[in-house]
Amino acid sequence: MAKFDLPAREKFGSKLGVVAAAAGSAVGLGNIWRFPYVAGENGGAAFLLIYLAFVLAIGFPVMLAELTIGRRAQLNALGSFKKLAPGKPWFLVGLMGIGAAFVILAFYSTIAGWTLEYLVQAIGHGFSNKSTEELKSSFEAFQAAPLRPVIWQLVFMFLTGFIVFSGVKKGIEKSTKILMPVLLALIIIMSIRSLTLPGAMGGLKFLFKPDFSKITWEVVLSALGQAAFSLSIGMGTLITYGSYIQKDNNLPVTALQVSAADTIIAVLAGIMIFPAVFAFGIDPAEGFGLVFIVLPNIFEQMAGGYFFSVLFFILLGIAALTSTVSVLEVVVAYFSEELNMSRKKATILGSVGISIVGVFATLSFGPLKDVVLFKKTIFGIFDYMSANILLPLGAIFIVLFVGWYLGKKNVQDELTNQGELKARLINVFMVIVKFIAPVAIAAVFLYGLGLF
Ligand code: PFF
Repeated sequence: MAKFDLPAREKFGSKLGVVAAAAGSAVGLGNIWRFPYVAGENGGAAFLLIYLAFVLAIGFPVMLAELTIGRRAQLNALGSFKKLAPGKPWFLVGLMGIGAAFVILAFYSTIAGWTLEYLVQAIGHGFSNKSTEELKSSFEAFQAAPLRPVIWQLVFMFLTGFIVFSGVKKGIEKSTKILMPVLLALIIIMSIRSLTLPGAMGGLKFLFKPDFSKITWEVVLSALGQAAFSLSIGMGTLITYGSYIQKDNNLPVTALQVSAADTIIAVLAGIMIFPAVFAFGIDPAEGFGLVFIVLPNIFEQMAGGYFFSVLFFILLGIAALTSTVSVLEVVVAYFSEELNMSRKKATILGSVGISIVGVFATLSFGPLKDVVLFKKTIFGIFDYMSANILLPLGAIFIVLFVGWYLGKKNVQDELTNQGELKARLINVFMVIVKFIAPVAIAAVFLYGLGLF
């Protein structure tokens, strides 16, 4: 724990602000870029179904468990465990989360950088009169280039650092409250356009008509990993944000609103992408390039496409930014509270450290593409390792901690705001965090990795 008490810890100002900030963290590239591509690679509808089950049965309880830990302890991801379990090894869970934050931001900032390149291209009419093939090859040329993607990544890390540096509260809380509804409106408009393309039905079938023969343990693990990644759980982001939530906030309601918002946006992203994928004859298992090839294609064909393309990439960048800020905040809160650094120094150190690792992820699409392990590039390893390994592991320990160590009395006290609220379903929650969630996650994890 910090040697000295911090000057009044920052707090979110309003309930709406809490939801906007936490949803800002949850809704990001994970919904709009990662969800469609992972669903595409894993068979579509069957994957979606398993994903939804995980969000409900595991994602929501883990999110609530994290918020509970953070608000109870009022500290960063590592300090929270140290404070609530002094002298016990539980702090290692926090440490793993901070490691996960490093890995996630390293590869996330690669894609976040791409959104800036695409914004600039959209502004400069870069998609006009290009065929699907041309869009695909220009995307491939861009991502393999040695310099441009790195520069955009560093620009994005700079923006992230800048916001964290100035204090999250005013910047994030205020901006997310305006931007999240705009993002929602845009995705709805885009989905409608995509649905009205000739051949759209194929995409809807792919997304909503499950073919259960497609399900393997690997698919199930990917769905779990995607749920954890998309909800920002398993690494202490929501412990950190939870520590900024006021004592009168209804945490179960907040967790429910955030999970629902995140899930709705992911499904809408699927409705936006897959009909267009099928309409333009693209392979849904195309991989992480999916949105960067398909969306420009839609923009090219839609009335007012220029306007929407610019707006869309601005919003995609912002959705990414409100997520990257939350990941960096995990590291910065840790550096400043546990290592007694000023916020300024912590931010610079965190951003520079992550950027150095991140450059390797970016270059693994070009100059470093032959550096492979388990058939995955550096980027692929970071992506797979964080979502499918670190986050599920983190999630297991977080629920075990809340269920077995913190215990019902503390949990009830925190979730009812010291008896102010009714303790409805508390027993159900305890059974989930003690038994169901850890066993389910462990089973999926072991089978998915082929260890069982
Ligand atoms: N949830 C974010 C997204 O879906 O884009 C990514 C993310 C943010 C993952 C924060 C993990 C995290 F802790």
